[in-house]
Amino acid sequence: MYAHIVGIGAFVPEGIITNADLERMVETNSEWIETRAGIKVRHKASEDEWVSDLAIKASEEALEHAGISPEELDLVICATVTGDTTMPSIASMVQYYIGAKKAGAYDLGAACPGWIYGVTTADAFIRAGMFRNILVIGAETTTKVIDYTDRGTCILFGDGAGAVVVSASNENGGILTSHMGGDGSLGNLLYYPGLRGRTPVTLEPDPKPEYVKMLGNEVFKHAVKAMADSAERVLDAAGYTVDDVKYLIPHQANIRIIEATAKRVKIPMERVLVNIEQYGNTSSATIPLALNEGVKDGRIQKGDLLLGVSFGSGFSWGAMLFRWQ
Ligand SMILES: CC(C)(COP(=O)(O)OP(=O)(O)OC[C@H]1O[C@@H](n2cnc3c(N)ncnc32)[C@H](O)[C@@H]1OP(=O)(O)O)[C@@H](O)C(=O)NCCC(=O)NCCS
Repeated sequence: MYAHIVGIGAFVPEGIITNADLERMVETNSEWIETRAGIKVRHKASEDEWVSDLAIKASEEALEHAGISPEELDLVICATVTGDTTMPSIASMVQYYIGAKKAGAYDLGAACPGWIYGVTTADAFIRAGMFRNILVIGAETTTKVIDYTDRGTCILFGDGAGAVVVSASNENGGILTSHMGGDGSLGNLLYYPGLRGRTPVTLEPDPKPEYVKMLGNEVFKHAVKAMADSAERVLDAAGYTVDDVKYLIPHQANIRIIEATAKRVKIPMERVLVNIEQYGNTSSATIPLALNEGVKDGRIQKGDLLLGVSFGSGFSWGAMLFRWQ
C-alpha cells in the first residue's frame, strides 16, 4: 500500500503587512528586509479571524481538489503552533465544520516542519493499513504571537494555511521517503512559550511568554546544514539524486537560507519553489502554500519528483521525497 497526495488547497487572510508598514512600527527599512530576508508582504489575520478559519477554508479546497467527500476521511491532523485553543484541537474544529463525521482528529506541534511531520505520519498510518484517507493541514496565525517591537522577528512572519488529502493506493509512488530530525539542546534559540510558558533548555519561567523569541543568525546557520543533510538523506534512502528532482520545496523562512540550502543540495534556483516575497514565514503552512501554487499554476505535473525540506523550533527538521499524482 502506498500513500499519495491526491488533493491540495490553501488560504491566506486578505489583510497584509507591507515593509512600509513595518518601517512605521520598528527601526527598519524596506530595502534591508528585502535584501536580508527576501520578503515584501506578509498576510495578517484580522482580530476575528483565527487559525481554525484558515484551516477550514484550506481543507474545503483540498477536499474539492481531491474529489472526495468529508465523510470519507478517517483522520484529520492539523500541524500548528499558534492554535486558537489548547483544547479542543484545531483539527477537531475542522473535523466538525467540514463535516468529517467519521474522522478522528488531533493537532501536531512540530513548528515549521509540522506539515512534513503530519504527512509522514499519514503515510505511516496508510502503509500500516490503518486508514485510507487523511487530511493533513499546516495552519498558523503567527502574527498573533509576534512582538511588533522586536525587529528581529516581526519582519519575518505571516499567516496562512495549506491542506492536503493523503490517500491509500496500490499504485507505486506517492510519498517515497521521509526523515525527521531534532536537537532539543538548542530549543532556546527559537521558541514561543505560550501563556503558561517556560524557557526551553534552562526551564526557567519566561518573562514575556506571549511572544516568539529568536536568535535569528544562530538559527540561520543550523537551518541550512540541517535541511541540506535531511534532503540528502531522503534522496539516498530512496536511491535518487538531486538531478531526478523536478522541484525543491523548502520552508520559506529567509531567501538567503533558501539559496544557501539549494547551493548545498546542488540544485539550481530555477528548480526551487519560492514564494516568500508575498507571504513571509508562515511556519507549518509554507510548504503546502508553495506546493499549492506550483500545482494550480501547472508548474507541477503528474509524476514529478518533489523534495520538501523544513526546519524550525525544537530544533526540529525534516525532509520528504514524493511524487505528484
Ligand atoms: C532574522 C534575520 C533576518 C536577521 O538577518 P541577519 O542577516 O542574520 O542579521 P543579524 O541578526 O546578524 O543582524 C545584522 C545587523 O542587522 C540589524 N538588524 C536586525 N534586524 C533588523 C531589521 N529588521 N532591520 C534593520 N536592521 C536589522 C542587527 O541589529 C545587526 O546590526 P549590527 O550589525 O549593527 O549589530 C535572519 O537571521 C534570519 O532570517 N534568521 C533565521 C530565521 C529562521 O530561519 N527562522 C526559523 C525557521 S522558522
